Amino acid sequence: MSFHLACVGCGTTYDGLKLRYRCDCGETLDVIHDLERLKGTLSTATFDARRISRDRLDKSGVWRFRELILDVAPEHVVTKPEGNTNLYDAPRVASWVGLDALALKHEGENPTGSFKDRGMTGGVTAAKRLGATRVACASTGNTSASMASYAAQAGMEALVFIPDGEIAYGKLSQALAYGARTAQISGDFDKAMELVQDLCNDEGIYLLNSVNPFRIEGQKAIGFEILQDLGWQVPDWIVLPGGNLGNNSALSKGMAELYALGLIDKLPRMAVVQAAGANPLYKAFAAETVELERVSAKTLATAIQIGNPVSWKKSIRGLLALDGVVTEVTDQEILDAKAQVDGQGIGAEPASCATVAGIKRLVAEGVIAPDAHVVGILTGNLLKDPDIVVGYHKSTLEGFTSTYANAPTRIGSTLADVKAWLEG
Ligand code: F0G
Repeated sequence: MSFHLACVGCGTTYDGLKLRYRCDCGETLDVIHDLERLKGTLSTATFDARRISRDRLDKSGVWRFRELILDVAPEHVVTKPEGNTNLYDAPRVASWVGLDALALKHEGENPTGSFKDRGMTGGVTAAKRLGATRVACASTGNTSASMASYAAQAGMEALVFIPDGEIAYGKLSQALAYGARTAQISGDFDKAMELVQDLCNDEGIYLLNSVNPFRIEGQKAIGFEILQDLGWQVPDWIVLPGGNLGNNSALSKGMAELYALGLIDKLPRMAVVQAAGANPLYKAFAAETVELERVSAKTLATAIQIGNPVSWKKSIRGLLALDGVVTEVTDQEILDAKAQVDGQGIGAEPASCATVAGIKRLVAEGVIAPDAHVVGILTGNLLKDPDIVVGYHKSTLEGFTSTYANAPTRIGSTLADVKAWLEG
């Protein structure tokens, strides 16, 4: 194996692919690739050639970068393929947030409609390589949708734990449709996360939350593909939402690896955006503490309704390495930003639009310069959460203002009715 595992806290190392998610000391683990060995063997031209190849692994926006993901035999790789998402130019959103230009990487265009597919192909591949037959996760919806689909593909039993009544309908539908055994627990996501870790330890079930280091490896490819989309030009900023904090941990790890390999000549800065009602990282970062205090989380962006994120240590380490910042936005700001993203014809779920609300805030505060080269990541598809969309446009979301509402009108069924409506 050309990689090993290392503890984020005490540095203890473990051999490559193991059924282990945490160090004996309790901290999370990193996959450490042998970058010295890889140096000089990889080039951006190799990745570009693979992008137009018809090979099964090359077609994946994750496995195209396989040397930096997971060193396994191709037959073990469970891929759909994933990635290859659009990087949209969003000029109207740019002017709304106060930037000259803005690119939005739409990870909601992955096979199950969210960025989770990149991490999941890594995690389910590791599961297959380890001979796992049962996999499990706690989820605010997207992880469970993704895991259910990849487990179905790989012929594994999927066990899903979700907070009852707190996940969007599109996501619940997916877990059921893909055949996952789904438990709606009476606690919140953080409680579900604790439960599933204990269950997996006791029963030998393979855990597929982002505490699993191989999930993080697949997730890194989000950054690799952004750079590839940009012809390997490094943007000034990459901005993304933060919940359980796996995605930003992955992004910074991947960037640091590309930099160490000499494949990029500078690092981007990173901004993580949290919902104000679910902001433990924002609070810890603002207080410059090394400890994270859990919060009781509440936001209408249910995907990021998380008060005790598992990957917080990796997240802070990555933020420091990328000269990053953390900001928070209100649910009203998220809804307004969503109306802009949707109205530009791009569309994304609420948590994704925290990205755009966060950019607006950081530009207003002078942290991001108006002429900066900024890429925002949209993490989930518009169709994941139709209730919020319809509620917003019909102005029925209690306590919120639907500033950009586009309400449907009830009309009669004659041509005269239609014409009157058209003129009205
Ligand atoms: N955006 C969306 C749409 C998400 O579903 C999530 C997390 C995030 C952002 C935050 O990413 O956790 O890596 O910081 N969803 C998880 C889930 C927790 O269970 O689907 P993160």
